[in-house]
Amino acid sequence: MAIDQTTSHHELIGRDDVNDIDAILAITNTDVDEAAHAVRAEGDAIFTWDYEQSRTALHRLYEKAKTSQWNGTTDLPWDTEVDQEAVVAANQAQNNFLYENMDMTGTVLEHWGDKEWIEFGVQSQNWTLSQFMHGEQGALICTAQIVETVPWIDAKYYASTQVMDEARHVEVFSRYLDTKLSGHYPINAHLKMLLDDIISDSRWDMTYLGMQVMVEGLALAAFGFMHQMSTEPLLKQLLRYVMSDEARHVAFGVLSLQEYYAQLSAPEIRERQEFAFEAAVRMRDRFLQQEVWERMGVDVKGAIKVMMSAPDRPIFQSMLFSKIVPNCKKLGLLDAADGWLREKFTELGVIQFEDAMDTGEEYETLDEVAKDRAAAAV
Ligand SMILES: [Fe+2]
Ligand SMILES: [Fe+2]
Repeated sequence: MAIDQTTSHHELIGRDDVNDIDAILAITNTDVDEAAHAVRAEGDAIFTWDYEQSRTALHRLYEKAKTSQWNGTTDLPWDTEVDQEAVVAANQAQNNFLYENMDMTGTVLEHWGDKEWIEFGVQSQNWTLSQFMHGEQGALICTAQIVETVPWIDAKYYASTQVMDEARHVEVFSRYLDTKLSGHYPINAHLKMLLDDIISDSRWDMTYLGMQVMVEGLALAAFGFMHQMSTEPLLKQLLRYVMSDEARHVAFGVLSLQEYYAQLSAPEIRERQEFAFEAAVRMRDRFLQQEVWERMGVDVKGAIKVMMSAPDRPIFQSMLFSKIVPNCKKLGLLDAADGWLREKFTELGVIQFEDAMDTGEEYETLDEVAKDRAAAAV
């Protein structure tokens, strides 16, 4: 298949080889002590004088969002005792642990025993939940931006409900970190770069593509994975509730962009494909959790090499894209421009999810809040 190479990997993601570990690790967060971070947003705030609610699917989603709000303070069992080390040990026992059957001889992890692996589990959880929290703040900011920049009244209405959802998500992840876990991590540099790119892009649909389709699509898969792997009841409940909101958010992105992309030119679609690819690489890079290895005091590159060679690693990594790929397909992004993005997703090893369920309708089945309320009312 002829692939247009006019924009090189280097221009898109700052390196030629997507798997170049040195280049990935060279990007680090150097502002770990900063208390605030400013990004210039370039989009216009748009008033619309057309108040007609003509977009039925968005209108339905808005009505659904209004009745699916939950309260992070009163709807979660915050009195649950969490012994983090015991939880990590229970999680490792329940799940087929990623590194369990690997021969570590000759690697930097050769001398690790149970103590180190438990500590790694603890740090990894602190890191993961911290990144979820920072990502949720990114979603809060992006969605507030969509309220301003999207030209359609139905989308402004819906986005306003999502702003509330995201505030609640930041709140519950932050509270869980503060009261149940044992430490925070600053935002990962790859995630920060991606959020900065999304927020600073002046085109309103790029906010949706970056946040609702890519970041939230990945979050939905990652929350689902953690929900399945976790043995801790409070975290499981928290994730169930956050996921039921996230499924609506991804649907919001897919429904809005479907309409908008239908009238874009081929070069404009190609720019969206490149943006999706760049976002995918940034998110993949962040999952190497380089800061955790640093905090564990081992050679980071050596540890990441071990991690990348774990037999289950490709499955875990590609699973994170199980929501993104079918949604990109539904939006026509996979096959436009001679299949440019299909080729890239094949290179990243995630194309096999193209026919998985897209999230345009999935939010109906994931409404855990409504299910719990119905059960409580019986
Ligand atoms: Fe969220
Ligand atoms: Fe969200």
